Amino acid sequence: MASLRFCGPIGAKNGLLMESGRVPSFQRRGELKVFASSSTQTQPDLSVTVNGLKMPNPFVIGSGPPGTNYTVMKRAFDEGWGAVIAKTVSLDAAKVVNVTPRYAKLRAGANGSAKGQIIGWENIELISDRPLETMLKEFRQLKEEYPDRILIASIMEEYNKAAWEELIDRVEQTGIDAIEINFSCPHGMPERKMGAAVGQDCALLEEVCGWINAKAAVPVWAKMTPNITDITQPARVALRSGCEGISAINTIMSVMGINLNTLHPEPCVEGYSTPGGYSAKAVHPIALAKVMNIAQMMKAEFGDKDYSLSAIGGVETGGDAAEFILLGSNTVQVCTGVMMHGYGLVKKLCYELQDFMKMHNFSSIEDFRGVSLQYFTTHTDLVQRQKAAIQQRKAVRKGLQSDKDWTGDGFVKESESMVSN
Ligand SMILES: Cc1cc2nc3c(=O)[nH]c(=O)nc-3n(C[C@H](O)[C@H](O)[C@H](O)COP(=O)(O)O)c2cc1C
Repeated sequence: MASLRFCGPIGAKNGLLMESGRVPSFQRRGELKVFASSSTQTQPDLSVTVNGLKMPNPFVIGSGPPGTNYTVMKRAFDEGWGAVIAKTVSLDAAKVVNVTPRYAKLRAGANGSAKGQIIGWENIELISDRPLETMLKEFRQLKEEYPDRILIASIMEEYNKAAWEELIDRVEQTGIDAIEINFSCPHGMPERKMGAAVGQDCALLEEVCGWINAKAAVPVWAKMTPNITDITQPARVALRSGCEGISAINTIMSVMGINLNTLHPEPCVEGYSTPGGYSAKAVHPIALAKVMNIAQMMKAEFGDKDYSLSAIGGVETGGDAAEFILLGSNTVQVCTGVMMHGYGLVKKLCYELQDFMKMHNFSSIEDFRGVSLQYFTTHTDLVQRQKAAIQQRKAVRKGLQSDKDWTGDGFVKESESMVSN
């Protein structure tokens, strides 16, 4: 099987060396039983090199509470996360004022039963409200203690070239390995032209990306908002404007619900609320679609260049991560999953991803990255393919060619015959 290498490991802005991809292991197909049963077997290799940055595995702490201070970022490295993206910082934290409660959960089960599994999470949290100087000191300390681990600063600023340049300069001086630009925070501070206010406006985005990439010496990932009709447009602009990678998605604009006793919306602050950002399991299918769209665009328009894609949204299992990688992502970020399950989650993610790889005899991430992208097409093409397939198996009645073919007696079987699995 050929792996799609449209955004493979590359040399970065700061001149880091290129590392060639691994040879696909398709030659060894068919050895699965031996591979899986041997006690001395080598585990599939989870390590990745993205924009010249070497990570022990593709699992990255997504910007948010799990990367909010030294203690928790250190914990992430100790537990084995492939990289950490810190909580978004700006020059003047005094302008960032958070409220409490700032989270609301959606649970599965009847009437949002308190015992139901958490499937959705809304937050109205802003970027870091800790002084920039404190965060920078902690970045520096982490890089001193973990020089071989990847620490990425997430930054956001107002529509002001000098402010962006100062922020980039100051975070780079701490020794961080890359920068993720938060062009995507859906709530708070649009009046300051911050976050999604830039990510939703391609002209503004192009200008700001131009400033950033003229200044930054480390790789830059642009984090996209899903709160836009066509996410490929800002992703394209960011790459054309010099960014090395795309991260997607940030949270989806949401209102978690209305309390039917009090009639007030949730999360409720002094009787009022404001739309927030939706994350966790419920957003995973939406994130898959956005990542698929971006990956297709990158393959078609930037195929021979070395850009990276970091997928985010509702990851709690190795299977969730495998899906993103099958669509072409190089790394997979987790934020709410860590808030629900703790930092030890990375161990489960790693062995579940390795189990998936063993099942298919994949020995490295590059062996299967992007492989499922080829199976997406248009609805018109699905109709054509189905027509051809139905014609081919005329003898076996499987699926209905047209609505006129439904029968009363065979109705259940006919329904079943059109279910995909
Ligand atoms: C409480 C909370 C705070 C967040 N803060 C930030 C932030 O400061 N910067 C940022 O880029 N994304 C932030 N995010 C978005 C996440 O990084 C991520 O893009 C999103 O939650 C989807 O991934 P998930 O389902 O794994 O959480 C935050 C998410 C949550 C839940």
